[in-house]
Amino acid sequence: MYEMKAPDHTYISGLVVHPDAQGRDIGRAAMIKMLEELKNVPIIDLVTHPDNMRAIKLYESLGFSLGERIENYYGDGEPRVVMTLNHPEQNSTSH
Ligand SMILES: CC(C)(COP(=O)(O)OP(=O)(O)OC[C@H]1O[C@@H](n2cnc3c(N)ncnc32)[C@H](O)[C@@H]1OP(=O)(O)O)[C@@H](O)C(=O)NCCC(=O)NCCS
Repeated sequence: MYEMKAPDHTYISGLVVHPDAQGRDIGRAAMIKMLEELKNVPIIDLVTHPDNMRAIKLYESLGFSLGERIENYYGDGEPRVVMTLNHPEQNSTSH
């Protein structure tokens, strides 16, 4: 799931694969499909739990960087980290 927060900003609000189907590239495929739909959006971000290494590795492999840690993000007493997509075309301007 994602939400358009502004014309230039999308927040990915949810990514869940059924436990019986995890680890079979479905989460990666869903993210790639979402990012293809959002390829013209300059700012794409999301939050995840800092201990959720599976999710963090997946997002990093797709170009997201770890950012700010926010305590008690959902009011559940747990922290979350913000991850932001670095668009390859924006990173290539130095070449
Ligand atoms: C996070 C989640 C969406 C990933 O979906 P998935 O279909 O299980 O993941 P994939 O099979 O597409 O794997 C994608 C990447 O995740 C990581 N990964 C997958 N299984 C992993 C494991 N057992 N241990 C560590 N990393 C793992 C790897 O980086 C993998 O990339 P690779 O295949 O190149 O190694 C899924 O595990 C899930 O629904 N988890 C519970 C809900 C959740 O945490 N959602 C994210 C909240 S922001």
